[in-house]
Parts: sequence; C-alpha cells; structure tokens
Amino acid sequence: MMAQKKERDSWGSRLGIIMAVAGSAIGLGNFLRFPAKAAANGGGAFMIPYFISLLLLGIPLMWIEWTLGRYGGGFEHGTAPGIFHSLWQKNRFIKYFGVIGIFGPLVIFIYYIFIESWTLAYSFFALTGRYTTLLDQHSLRSFLIGFQGLQKNQYFNGIATAYVFFLITFLLNIWVIYYGIKRGIEKLCKWAMPLLFIFGLVLLVRVLTLGVPDLSRPGWNVSAGFGFLWNPDFSALKSAKVWLEAAGQIFFTLSVGIGVILTYASYLKKADDVVLSGLTASVTNEVAEVILGASIIIPAAFVFFGPVDIKLIAQSGVFNLGFVTMPLVLNKLPWPQLFGFFWFFLLFLAGITSSVSLAQPAVAFLEDEFNIKRKRAVSIFSIVSFILCQPAIFFLGRGVVDELDFWGGTFFLVVFATIETVLFVWVFGMDRAWEEIHKGPDMTIPNVYKFINKYINPLFLFIIMGMRFAQE
Ligand code: ALA
Repeated sequence: MMAQKKERDSWGSRLGIIMAVAGSAIGLGNFLRFPAKAAANGGGAFMIPYFISLLLLGIPLMWIEWTLGRYGGGFEHGTAPGIFHSLWQKNRFIKYFGVIGIFGPLVIFIYYIFIESWTLAYSFFALTGRYTTLLDQHSLRSFLIGFQGLQKNQYFNGIATAYVFFLITFLLNIWVIYYGIKRGIEKLCKWAMPLLFIFGLVLLVRVLTLGVPDLSRPGWNVSAGFGFLWNPDFSALKSAKVWLEAAGQIFFTLSVGIGVILTYASYLKKADDVVLSGLTASVTNEVAEVILGASIIIPAAFVFFGPVDIKLIAQSGVFNLGFVTMPLVLNKLPWPQLFGFFWFFLLFLAGITSSVSLAQPAVAFLEDEFNIKRKRAVSIFSIVSFILCQPAIFFLGRGVVDELDFWGGTFFLVVFATIETVLFVWVFGMDRAWEEIHKGPDMTIPNVYKFINKYINPLFLFIIMGMRFAQE
C-alpha cells in the first residue's frame, strides 16, 4: 500500500514570506562580514563592484530562485534535486547536482550557528557588564579568544561557557524549525525583523551623534568615516580580488546560490507574486546591509581608530570589528551595557532568522522526498547537524570555520548559482522562464533583464568561477 502523502506546510501571509526571506538574507553577513570586507578592500573601492554585482547577479538570481522554488513547490519538491529534475525531466543526472543546494546550506549552518551563539553570549555579557569595563583592544581581544576556548586566561578557563551558549542557540533553532514554516519560521521573523530594525536605528543615531572624541585628530569624524566608505576609487575596478569579494558578498548576503530561497519559495502558492516580493526582500536586505550594517560599525570605528587602523583591524580577521572594535567603542561611551546589548542582540536576531533558513532545505528534503513527518525529519537533522557542529567548535583555532566558510559560504554558492541559472535560462528556455517568472506578478521586470539573465548573468558567473579556480 502506498504511504499517504501528507500536506505541505505553507506561508500564512505575503508579509510573512517577505519577512522570512529578508530574515534569511539579513544576517551576520550584513553586520559582520560586509563591514569587514568593505573596510579591508579600501571602503569606496569595494562599493562599485558590489553594486554592479547586486544589479547583474544578485537581483536576477533572487527572481530566478523565487520562481524555481514556486515552480518546484507545484510538484511538491522543496529542494534543488527535485526542482532540477522537474525542470529537465529527460536528464537522470541533473538531480544529483541539486544536492549542493542541501549540502551547501548545511555546511554554512554548522559554523554559522556557533558564531551566532557568540552573539547571544555577548548580549548576556553586555547586560551583566562582564566585558564593559575593558577599554583597550588587547583586553577585548583576550576576552574573545578566552571565550572561544583558544586560550585560558583571566577571563575564561576553557570553552565551557561558549559551549553552553552554543547548546542554547542550537536548541532555540531546533525549536523554531520544529514548529514549521508558518508557526515557527514566519512567527519568529515577524517579530524579530522589526525589532532588529529598531535596535539598528538606535545604534545608528548613537553613531551619528558621536562628534570628535579625540580633538587632536579633527579629521577622525563621522562624516570622514562615511567618506571612507562612499568615495569611489575607480582604480579598484582593475583588481580581480575586489570583484570576487564583492560578488561573493552579494551571494552570501542575499542568501542566493545557497539553496534556501528555493525552499522558502516552494511553500508559495502557484498564483503568488515572486517579482515584487523578491525585489522587496532584496531591497530590505540592502537597506540593512548598506544603511545599517556599514553605517554603524565603519564610522564608529573610524572616529576612534582613523583610516589606517580601521583597514588593518578589518584585515586582521572578520570578527575583530564586531567583537573587539565595536564593543570597545561602545565601552568608551555612556551606557555601554545597554548599547552593547543592543549591538549583540541585533546580531543574534540577524543570525537566528538566517540560520533557521539554512536548516530548512535539509528538513524539507527529508519531508518531501522521503515522506518523513516533520517531527522525525527535524530529529534526524538535529542529530546529524549537532555532530557536524563539533569540529567547528573544538578546532576553531585550526581554521575549521574558515575552511567551512570557503566551501559553504564562497565556493558552492557560485557553482550552484551557475548550474541553476544555466538550467533555467538555457535548458528550460528563456521564453518559458520569463513566462514562469511572470505568473501572478505585481510588477513586470524590465525587458533588459531578459538579456542580462540569458547572457550577462551566466557569463559573469563563469568568469567568477574561472577566477576562483585560478586563484585557489
Ligand atoms: N544571508 C545570510 C547572511 O547574510 C546568510 O548572514
């Protein structure tokens, strides 16, 4: 007897899915990765390739993934293997390429959640004043590496505290995923996203009113900090590295090329719009990244450390700006406990709304393709991912997180995006793809995107892949 197919979960409202996709996109990438990349690559030098990548890669891919997800959902497939097979039924092998869309997010999940747990821990430390009396880079750096278990020092005697916060964060994630799309993820994002924006705006106002703390250096002010980020430097366009980093950041921040948007969009209904919703989610992410992400940390760091040191700090490690410099700046201002809490809890909200999306493809795969009930699918996912998280925690000092970030957060993204674009635009066919995108739309995409999707986007992706292979 055939097992009865259970009904798939769905979104409760249009606002719900936009919030959830924006929640997936807005993450640690916006507030930690982006400022570090922008500052390390010379501020304004980074922004031109960044915006070109957004328009030519990010937004078209967002539309492609929303459409592919909705299309696959119609066949009860919520992940890339099934969706790719539905697109190219004659090809028996294409589904195996789709496995990247499940494996990739899992790889990101297992290190992302550990970093997310640091933000929860630091929110707690801020409120309890555990680090807020430290007033120099060296002490805050020791505090961080002590907490991470990389060194026993006067602040921490091992990794136990970090592990407890990891467990809490892990369980919170599992709890949300367990409740499913509408009652878990949508509910979380509906309150977490507005709260995140409120915290972000409060911190932004705090930074904008900083003044000049060191009167002997009048040039170290907020507007010069903005100038550092925004003055374009056209010579940077010649650097392959800057292009790669900018395009990579667009993928990571929008959560495209990972596989998660496909899964979220698979819970849409056939007649739901994807064009305006995809664009709204992208714009919301960019506001959070460029307006909040960069305008908080970069000017704040600039005012206290100046143009040379800010670059050095950013180049010395992706976490230094967020976990050393930013708390240091806030510690030097009134109410460090409160503002420190705002900063780290904002990071935590950004993190959890993204990590649940990274977990969802694996859970959806078990549910859709093996007809496993959600409860069991979440249990299987929990056990496997919990085991996989351990090396990231215990071998942080040996570069495991960097290695996972390279494969999950940089390499697989570009490969997966290239496969899905070529499949949709060339195999499925541009005319059918265009028609599929425009089912039930609240907005029409300008025709120039037909050309961009068909030629520019794949070409851009192949060039990036070629450059990556040559470089790595
Ligand atoms: N898009 C998520 C982030 O920016 C993964 O952190």
